[in-house]
Amino acid sequence: MPLSFDVRLNDLTGAREELRGVTEGSRAASSQASVTPDSSLLGASPEASTFFIETFGCQMNAHDSEKVAGVLLGRGYRQVDDLDSAKVVFYNTCSIREKAAQKVFSRLGEYRKHPGHGKIIGVLGCVAQQEGEEIFERAPWVSLVCGSASYSKLPALLAQLEAGNRRVTGLDKDTDETFETEITRRDNPFRAYLTIIEGCDKSCSYCVVPFTRGPERSRSSASVLQEVRKLADLGYSEIQLLGQTVNSYRDPMLRGMSRGMTFAELLVAVAAVPGIRRVRFTTSHPRDFGPDIVEAIDSVPALCDHVHLPVQSGSTRVLRSMQRTYTRDEYLEKIALIRSARRPISVTSDIIVGFPGETEEDLADTLSLLDAAQYDGVFAFQYSPRPNTSSLQMADTIPEQEKGRRLAVVQDRQREIQVVRNNELVGQIFEVLVDGASRRPGQWAGRTSSNRILNFSSPHSDLLGQYTQVRVTRASPNSLIGEQVEQVV
Ligand code: 5AD
Ligand code: SF4
Repeated sequence: MPLSFDVRLNDLTGAREELRGVTEGSRAASSQASVTPDSSLLGASPEASTFFIETFGCQMNAHDSEKVAGVLLGRGYRQVDDLDSAKVVFYNTCSIREKAAQKVFSRLGEYRKHPGHGKIIGVLGCVAQQEGEEIFERAPWVSLVCGSASYSKLPALLAQLEAGNRRVTGLDKDTDETFETEITRRDNPFRAYLTIIEGCDKSCSYCVVPFTRGPERSRSSASVLQEVRKLADLGYSEIQLLGQTVNSYRDPMLRGMSRGMTFAELLVAVAAVPGIRRVRFTTSHPRDFGPDIVEAIDSVPALCDHVHLPVQSGSTRVLRSMQRTYTRDEYLEKIALIRSARRPISVTSDIIVGFPGETEEDLADTLSLLDAAQYDGVFAFQYSPRPNTSSLQMADTIPEQEKGRRLAVVQDRQREIQVVRNNELVGQIFEVLVDGASRRPGQWAGRTSSNRILNFSSPHSDLLGQYTQVRVTRASPNSLIGEQVEQVV
């Protein structure tokens, strides 16, 4: 699945603005960042060795940026969080929808106004892959263009820049390598992201991902588990496994192995690593979602009770045209499977409105699917025609204004569903991992296993990074409010 990856339930559940997210300076994050640099740049002036990365788009991109930062730290660069003081600037870009892709060009355009900026500028990610060397034409001050399928070559590309090369590119997609790094500079001190499968072999007609991220490549279960053990040692208790189609994971066969692990077996093995209390995964593709995943969640409490299972449309006709490989009824069977679990599992989804040829009847099918699926959150998007996708050629395009109207209709219906679902949670007690503190004393934010944000009050201090029990006292369509009911564990 494309770039849903982080199930941005926090966007849906809102109410976060007033909370200070704590991302820097934790034990886990800083211990990972303190590597011994090994590059000739070490001798350079501090200004010469600073870098800044701005990331657009999905959780996969955010995690790729963490890995890129790890590579740079390993070469003696120092990360800074203001652009002005950086010698090297990387933009890790997203091209899933046109608006996202435009953002990087407006960033790059800024440099036109400052010709003597003296910075090394690199463009990474999906726009880099899509536009390739064209980027040098549009923005001659760019020195590096590298798509995510070539990130394993980044150290070599950096070395070429350090050696004085003006322009370097990494645009191959025919790699079977995954981007594994010695160190990853993780931004979130509580939740560690870990890519287990890169690229995508599906061919949804609207989606740039197979083009920009290349074919599917899974990382071996042995190497995943080794990294999870390292993360647990560093103090992380929550792991989120990432992939565009994370549940299409196929363990590469190693010599001497009779067979690799299935995705469900990998989930169970990750959850069994001492110190790991929560395991999430995103994004799941409906076609590869089987009962073994639900059974694993049912039998292993550390596997979080949340599945992000994008449907995209409730109309079988549109699904066929999108090449999603399932019908509405087949999708609803997967929902029924999840709902048959012994513990409630929260389900979220992505929806595209205004796909070419979408009729009022198709839209009505999507609305009735929302009623049937009873999602806990939905990310709805207006269809955006993208280069190198087959839907680009399709007739019967829908005017932008009409797409906007359909988007509002879908969002309104889903809001009504969330009002009811969230109200049912009032009075229930959830364990949260506390990951935010409000400026107001005694106010905290945590996440439930189902990935809901729960803002709560507690007389305790120093709750960050702790697991605690919270009773829900109020609910709105987009947020839960509660109070702590127990001592910190
Ligand atoms: N237009 C609109 N939305 C898209 N998505 C992917 N490609 C497009 C596109 N061309 C949405 C899908 C996907 C989510 C991350 O982005 O819903 O699941
Ligand atoms: Fe997801 Fe389909 Fe895009 Fe692959 S092609 S990332 S399955 S939407």
